Amino acid sequence: MRKRNLIVAAGLTALLVGCTSPPDNAAGSASTTTGGAPPSTATSAPAETAAPVAVSTPTVAAAPDLEFDKAKAMKGYADVKKIGKNPVAGDVEATKAGATLFATNCASCHGPAGLGDGPAGMALNPKPRNLTAFAEYKYGKGDLGIFRTIKYGVDGSGMAPWEGRMTDDECWKVVNYVRTLQK
Ligand code: HEC
Repeated sequence: MRKRNLIVAAGLTALLVGCTSPPDNAAGSASTTTGGAPPSTATSAPAETAAPVAVSTPTVAAAPDLEFDKAKAMKGYADVKKIGKNPVAGDVEATKAGATLFATNCASCHGPAGLGDGPAGMALNPKPRNLTAFAEYKYGKGDLGIFRTIKYGVDGSGMAPWEGRMTDDECWKVVNYVRTLQK
């Protein structure tokens, strides 16, 4: 519970910072903010090192990504299966970069908070997914599934592949960020 709140807080912070500041400032102010919220000492501790650990823990999918099997028939499934795991899982800087990439590339359709309510998505059928709701993911709500969706897209929908527009590394960073939106 506490972990989840932390993630959401970190995610929102990253999003806000990503929207309003250049990357250099973003890194500085976001780490200051998350550094103020260590997992167990609520208000008083300065905790320079606690924040990265706290933020990183839940991002790592320790359990096998069973949800990913929902994407078995989808393009790129075998390739992503081979990669096996998110190379930047738990990397707070990567998550922050992912927030910026999300604001630039995804928010137009999925909305600034990932609710699926972006202006460019209004007329689409199917509609852009509400990325905050676990239950709405059809092709995997874990790291591998989301990476596959981003890189290879969903045929026959507005969710076009990002392969060629973002590097794998950038896709993984966005995966980290999307994971912070889920509840
Ligand atoms: C042009 C509009 C558009 C943009 C831009 C867009 N998406 Fe989507 N996205 C969609 C639509 C439409 C769907 C629903 C596809 C479906 O229902 O089959 C979707 C679905 C998804 C899903 C859900 C897959 C599932 O398991 O159900 C994820 C995750 C996702 N998008 C992530 C992203 C990310 C991350 C970005 C930015 C890199 C992005 N999208 C950019 C339109 C968009």
